[in-house]
Amino acid sequence: SAATSILLLVLNRFGLFAIFDGHGGDGAAKAASRILPENVAKILSQKGTIERVLTCSNASDVLKCAFDLTEAALNHQYEGCTATVLLIWFDQNKDCFAQCANLGDSACIMNVEGKPIAMTEDHRVVSTTERARIAKLGNPLKDGESRICGLNLCRMLGDKFLKEQDPRFSKEPYVSPVVQISKSCSAFALIASDGLWDVITAKKAAQLVLDYKERNMGQEISADGVADHVLSEARNLRTKDNTSVIFLDFDAMRMGR
Ligand SMILES: *[C@@H]1O[C@H](CO)[C@@H](O)[C@H](O)[C@H]1NC(C)=O
Ligand SMILES: *[C@@H]1O[C@H](CO)[C@@H](O)[C@H](O)[C@H]1NC(C)=O
Repeated sequence: SAATSILLLVLNRFGLFAIFDGHGGDGAAKAASRILPENVAKILSQKGTIERVLTCSNASDVLKCAFDLTEAALNHQYEGCTATVLLIWFDQNKDCFAQCANLGDSACIMNVEGKPIAMTEDHRVVSTTERARIAKLGNPLKDGESRICGLNLCRMLGDKFLKEQDPRFSKEPYVSPVVQISKSCSAFALIASDGLWDVITAKKAAQLVLDYKERNMGQEISADGVADHVLSEARNLRTKDNTSVIFLDFDAMRMGR
């Protein structure tokens, strides 16, 4: 599977960090990694949108709309991808806000003042929440049934043919609550494709970051350095998958690094 990550800044007030992990080929992942940020930028440039996001401290509508437009623009019949998109923005007081939307199993975790926050939902066929969603559609999965049409995911971008064949596939993203990170808070975010989460728990990943930062205390720590550290741990644990990792240090961001 192929994973792509992107970064975008709108008006220096918004930042977007995303991972798209493809299956059936890398076509949908590549297209979505280009189209989705364009859609977010387009939506944010509509009159009154930025003001509304800042006033409500909520970008849920922006994220949902960007996912809808992206899904509509993809015409991949037999290729699909996960999408995990973390949007961050600063308000007038330079407080930072973060909100995440996702389809699939590329998880995003945050850590604010040592407190772990799960920013995504897993959309695997084996996920309890997905089995409950599917049961409500009137065609529940059997015990031990872990794939639909050969796929272990049941929410994704693309895979248009599968979505037409089987209504249990969904394109509705999960949107997280908004996390506020005030100026004095220490915080980070980690987004990764399933290759990481297959071998490292969210708790362990956060601990790897905290340990690394402590070991390198007083030195300038690059986001790439932290991401590489976490990734090499996954490799040591013999992850089988191609793995992408994005690390975001809110402390460094505030200091303009
Ligand atoms: C990882 O990705 C590269 C480039 O997309 C591909 O050539 C390679 O086969 C992939 N490896 C695995 C294990 O999927
Ligand atoms: C954010 O907006 C969405 C959609 O309008 C709404 O459902 C949700 O409750 C809002 N969240 C907060 C924290 O206000």
